[in-house]
Amino acid sequence: MKAIILKAFGGVENLVSADIPVPVIADNEVLVRVKAIGINPVDVKTRKGKGLAGALKEFDPIILGWDISGTVTQTGAKITRIKMGDDVFGMINFPGHGKAYAEYVAAQESHLAIKPSGISHEEAAAASLAALTAWQVLKYKSGIKPGDKVLIHSAAGGVGHYAVQLAKYLGASVAGTSSGVNRDFVLSLGASLHIDYEKQYFEKILSDYDFVLDTIGGENTDRSYLVLKHGGTIICIPSGTSENITEKASALGLHGYHFRVQSDGHDINEVAEFLEKGILKSFVSKTFTFSEIQAAHQQIETGKTKGKIVLLTD
Ligand SMILES: NC(=O)c1ccc[n+]([C@@H]2O[C@H](COP(=O)([O-])OP(=O)(O)OC[C@H]3O[C@@H](n4cnc5c(N)ncnc54)[C@H](OP(=O)(O)O)[C@@H]3O)[C@@H](O)[C@H]2O)c1
Repeated sequence: MKAIILKAFGGVENLVSADIPVPVIADNEVLVRVKAIGINPVDVKTRKGKGLAGALKEFDPIILGWDISGTVTQTGAKITRIKMGDDVFGMINFPGHGKAYAEYVAAQESHLAIKPSGISHEEAAAASLAALTAWQVLKYKSGIKPGDKVLIHSAAGGVGHYAVQLAKYLGASVAGTSSGVNRDFVLSLGASLHIDYEKQYFEKILSDYDFVLDTIGGENTDRSYLVLKHGGTIICIPSGTSENITEKASALGLHGYHFRVQSDGHDINEVAEFLEKGILKSFVSKTFTFSEIQAAHQQIETGKTKGKIVLLTD
């Protein structure tokens, strides 16, 4: 099968196409003929030797990627729920070796959901790591109640565009940051207030917020404390960008944590249900062919991706 392997940590030139054997599945796995692959900033960070590079460096070959949507072509002996021919999607083996940049992926049944029939493979692959992150943060860490005030940073980005929709669904009043060009997009997702981070200081406009999802880190985290009410919560997701967040938040009478998404069958099935019911929509701003993987990484590196980008294998 065709796969994209990472020859060495570093630049995009290290992502190369290779012919390698189709994976052999374990009893608790299914083989998926991949149709679409979601691309995330962690793919780029790992390629450069950060992100999950520490966990992957022992593998040969290294195959990046975690988000897939495709069709099941083989099932292991212990598989009970998923059948041959099912269309499935999910975030495979995160934080581990997902090996998603390939025509065939071996995936644990518990990391997959059945793809809703009205949702394309592109939309489903997109709604894997980023949608799961948004949902796990809001479900497990936010404590959001109807009427709460919620700030979502990078509201036009991968995680942010799902987080705005889900926070709105939970009954929150949502403010979102992006550049001015994405203002209408952010409002269309359900935000009631848009802040253009290039022209406005969000901490001078917002106050008494219950919850902030910080997708930026560093100084953005420090400024975000200022919009929270006493006892409010901030979750920061970029790794290594908000040292001591828990201590700093606590000193200010706030709750602050770093959070990392994990593959979880129950949560991905909830995402599937949200997609099916139209509660959640993927915005795929661009698709790339398998051979355009380097351009896809370069797009993520701009830091300006709107919604999600997806790689198509056919
Ligand atoms: N811990 C975890 O489990 C986890 C999971 C997922 C992601 N992450 C991390 O979270 C971060 C965001 O991920 P992502 O997938 O959402 O990234 P992304 O899709 O690449 O984010 C791009 C978006 O960021 C916006 N943006 C850039 N600078 C901004 C700023 N200063 N204020 C507000 N918006 C800004 C851009 O909007 P404009 O074009 O309008 O500027 C663009 O739409 C990454 O660092 C990623 O690695 C962590």
